[in-house]
Amino acid sequence: MVEAGCWNGGASAKFSLVCKLGGYRLRIYDSFEGVEPMTSEEKQRGYDFSGEYVASDATLRANLQRFGAPDVCSIHKGWFAATLARSPVAEVVRVVFIDCDSAKGTQEVLLGVVPSLASDGVVFTQDFHIASVRDLLLDRRTWERYGRGDPGIERLCGHLAVLRLPQHLERRVLPDRRRAPERRVAERRVAPPRQPATL
Ligand SMILES: C[S@@+](CC[C@H](N)C(=O)[O-])C[C@H]1O[C@@H](n2cnc3c(N)ncnc32)[C@H](O)[C@@H]1O
Repeated sequence: MVEAGCWNGGASAKFSLVCKLGGYRLRIYDSFEGVEPMTSEEKQRGYDFSGEYVASDATLRANLQRFGAPDVCSIHKGWFAATLARSPVAEVVRVVFIDCDSAKGTQEVLLGVVPSLASDGVVFTQDFHIASVRDLLLDRRTWERYGRGDPGIERLCGHLAVLRLPQHLERRVLPDRRRAPERRVAERRVAPPRQPATL
């Protein structure tokens, strides 16, 4: 599971307990410098969250220790542009929870998680009430680069929506198992005939 935007870790602690029960790992991403300064377009269209929700990774760690399961967590400190947007998560991702209050941040998170999203993976956004985030997620161009089609989007309540991409083959999960029989057949075809044993 990936959580993008954790603040003091109130949700992270709960997510970590669920991950522990289900045998998953929780990757937590945050700048720990608050919400990135918003673009002028975002400011014009809604509330300016710039610089809000500053927390420290020490507070997050303490809260995970006290209320959660720190042993299943990894903490990735930095702007999403420098973490998730730079390279997709190396493991298969089943659940994503985005709560960063900006369209730019949301887009950067998608770059890091969508290529790694399991066939039945789900992305939650806690920012669906923010017009620029909603526009980003409803824009077909946002999804073109991933080649997985447009997501189904369901608004669960005021701020929260869940996105499900069309199902696809999990190439990142099962490449060896799926290719192995083919490889074995090919190897058998090119194998040189066995020489009769000499006495
Ligand atoms: C609303 S708070 C998260 C609240 C948290 N999910 C909870 O339930 O308590 C937003 C968080 O997103 C982080 N954030 C916002 N924009 C970011 C960005 N571009 N890169 C990294 N972190 C960012 C902020 O530092 C902040 O901790």
